[in-house]
Amino acid sequence: MKAEKVSLGKIVLNDSNPRTITDEKFIKLVESILVFPKMLELRPVVLDENYIALGGNMRTRGLQWIVTATQTQIEEHLQRQSKYRLLTEYEQQQLINFWLEWKRNPMVYCVFADDLTEDERNEFIVKDNVGFGSWDMDILANEFDEQLLLDWGMDVWQMDGGDDNGAGGKEKHGSLLDKFVVPPFTILDTRQGYWRERKEVWRALIDDNGESREGTLANGETNCMASINNGVSLLDPVMAEIVCRWFGIEGGKAFDCFAGDTVFGYVAATLGHSFTGIELREEQAALNNERVAGMSAEYICDDGQNVLKHIGKGTQDLLFSCPPYFDLEVYSDKPNDASNQSTYKGFLEILDKAFTDALVCLKDDRFAAIVVGDIRDKQTGFYHDFVSDIKDIFKRNGAPLYNEMIIIEPIGTLPQRVQRYMKNRKVGKCHQNVLVFYKGDPDKIKDNYKLIEYASEDLESFGMDNGDSTSED
Ligand SMILES: C[S@@+](CC[C@H](N)C(=O)[O-])C[C@H]1O[C@@H](n2cnc3c(N)ncnc32)[C@H](O)[C@@H]1O
Repeated sequence: MKAEKVSLGKIVLNDSNPRTITDEKFIKLVESILVFPKMLELRPVVLDENYIALGGNMRTRGLQWIVTATQTQIEEHLQRQSKYRLLTEYEQQQLINFWLEWKRNPMVYCVFADDLTEDERNEFIVKDNVGFGSWDMDILANEFDEQLLLDWGMDVWQMDGGDDNGAGGKEKHGSLLDKFVVPPFTILDTRQGYWRERKEVWRALIDDNGESREGTLANGETNCMASINNGVSLLDPVMAEIVCRWFGIEGGKAFDCFAGDTVFGYVAATLGHSFTGIELREEQAALNNERVAGMSAEYICDDGQNVLKHIGKGTQDLLFSCPPYFDLEVYSDKPNDASNQSTYKGFLEILDKAFTDALVCLKDDRFAAIVVGDIRDKQTGFYHDFVSDIKDIFKRNGAPLYNEMIIIEPIGTLPQRVQRYMKNRKVGKCHQNVLVFYKGDPDKIKDNYKLIEYASEDLESFGMDNGDSTSED
């Protein structure tokens, strides 16, 4: 059966089609058509003799949406597809031109099934949408990009392998999200929709765009799971939230001896912790105090190495810090700014002193979460192995490593930069390490840290449904 082109205006939607689609999925379908128009030729719409769409009803609706969409709307939706963002500017323009041209004369590839009986027609409509196969999760996970799968409309989190004791992947993952905010796995993926949505909610609340240190980030690389904002790095608020929820004590005291922006203090105070941050730059500390006015958070302007001057021994419940990553982002020209040291050794000595004393402030049987990312020696190109040096400092001071999580960052401008890096065979780094240390007796964790459960209002405020929140050991 050969496909022929039919004017979109002639095609009639099938009102009695039993398939439905959510608004969210419909928009995904539109984006999927926009970014890959060849698919329309490969999978024509099936019409009966009255031009009623028996197969491809949703695609036709998608095309009807596109035909009335403005250029800006088309561009906006294309931008949401990672495949489009990876195209060159020229290729992007070609795709937009294709759709603008198509809108002028919207033709659709169709085949006619005009000799079906009424029963055959119904049989076709249902069978056209039934999938008999199931997905091989290993192949999908190993050979396909998760973001692309999401862009293509697959519910990666909800894909049910079909054989997990009847519980279903959807339920399992759904309840993990409900319970822990993000799944408590050693990979934290900031590219996932649930992470991005939550981050937007926090960002709107916090409203810190790094104004006090505009343009300090030298080369597009990031630290502290940063998102680039005015060329500065800002802590990821979802990261801050999970550190508080998983490793903090509600109603307890949290502190940071390299505080930076407001994010951690704001999130910690919102979640019921009282927070003290020590920050070297006056303007940053002052701005932070303005932002957290009225909250249980305070920023002290001083050198983090003086932490014991401000915070009592054994008084704190959680140490969180995302220290400077040597000279990756130079914050000031102050002689005691860790990022402003001429040698890595000098930089590490400042961190060593500050963290050694910070651990004295931490109570026994408590956690310290330190976010770090390795940096290269600018002269030799070798990694300093910063992550191991931090582990060593904590271990020496009685707080060995308890968890290590890899946080996968948004891809940002890495695809462009990596071409330059790969000339020297430097692989594009798009992760940070969240090191969680524990000071004390691990047997006491169960007694000191309550089971993680959320009230439904709590979840609703982040636009999440409350699933089964039954706690388990
Ligand atoms: C990576 S930033 C802070 C991380 C923060 N969580 C963020 O993402 O913005 C490091 C901060 O440490 C501060 N800093 C550098 N040396 C310091 C020192 N000796 N004592 C206290 N703060 C210092 C810098 O001014 C900077 O704001």
